[in-house]
Amino acid sequence: MIDLRSDTQTRPSPEMRAAIAAAEVGDEQKREDPTVNELERRAAELLGQEEAVFVPTATMANEIALRTLGQPGDEVIGEENSHIFLAELGGPAVHAGLMTRPLRCVAGRFSPEQIRETVRVTDGTHVPHTRIVSVENTHNASGARVWPIEEIEAVAATARELGVNLHLDGARVMNASVASGVPSAQIGSHFDTVTLCLSKGLGCPLGALVAGSAEHMANARRLKHLFGGAMRQAGIVAAAGVYALEHNIGRLADDHERARRLAEGLDAAGVPVDLEQVETNFVQVDLAPLGLSPEDALARLWEHRVGLSMTAHPTKLRAVTHLDVGDEDIEQAVDLIPRALGALAHA
Ligand SMILES: Cc1ncc(COP(=O)(O)O)c(C=O)c1O
Repeated sequence: MIDLRSDTQTRPSPEMRAAIAAAEVGDEQKREDPTVNELERRAAELLGQEEAVFVPTATMANEIALRTLGQPGDEVIGEENSHIFLAELGGPAVHAGLMTRPLRCVAGRFSPEQIRETVRVTDGTHVPHTRIVSVENTHNASGARVWPIEEIEAVAATARELGVNLHLDGARVMNASVASGVPSAQIGSHFDTVTLCLSKGLGCPLGALVAGSAEHMANARRLKHLFGGAMRQAGIVAAAGVYALEHNIGRLADDHERARRLAEGLDAAGVPVDLEQVETNFVQVDLAPLGLSPEDALARLWEHRVGLSMTAHPTKLRAVTHLDVGDEDIEQAVDLIPRALGALAHA
């Protein structure tokens, strides 16, 4: 089986398992777990923030961040298919009481003008405050595309001018950093809060971090407990994170290179892919010209022992490269996917 469904499908490597087995642990709730403390210290540094808080999932990291930055009745602005709007079960409304103002965008990126048009200026007596702008980088639904640093700077400057907080859903910000050559700390430093996921391209079994100022992170720690996320000997898991930050960031370039090779191979074989979309580790396949439904296409692919997955777009599937996908898998996928989709007949 060539599992290209998601970069969440990685299994911990033998070296990561050895780091887990050797982890020093303590009571995380009391901040006595040295491995969690070390992971939080390293993550804060990598994300250009004062402190970071270790949590089980990136969803929890996002939800804690939004609750830290906004009050019930406030508004959060973000791209309409961003993870916080599309895939967190309405969490911003449930956990933080936030109103959501989705923006329609190209490639997951919005402009300073869109923020300016959307932010509500209010004296607080009648109209809700727009309190948070949320950026997702890389942006999942658009095909894991990267925000250029100049656009982040422009959006951040506008948000600051308007007195609005900034959150970065950087679940895959290390992919963005590696692809763009911009240090992750430089990207992260523009935001009040930053989420980083460990269980995607970084290859951990679970874990995420939310980072921000010492003041915001004191609140984040309180919210983590409130959400039931304060743990005990969590160093067992954090050890995987420390290992990943040391060993698995630079190699994301290999995933990006394989995604590009896959996209070019599929394109040459007549599978409809948008080569411009392939900036990191996702390749989106458009089924519309092939006349296949996503369910039908996924079933055919499964029969050929290749796993792809659905996207936010009704006619597009995605193939995602990751730690457990090698060069041979890509070669085979370039052969199997067109056959499964009957693409050669359409080429
Ligand atoms: C952009 C983005 N943010 C957050 C998440 C949530 O991650 P988790 O599954 O760890 O909650 C995902 C997961 O796919 C994601 O793609």
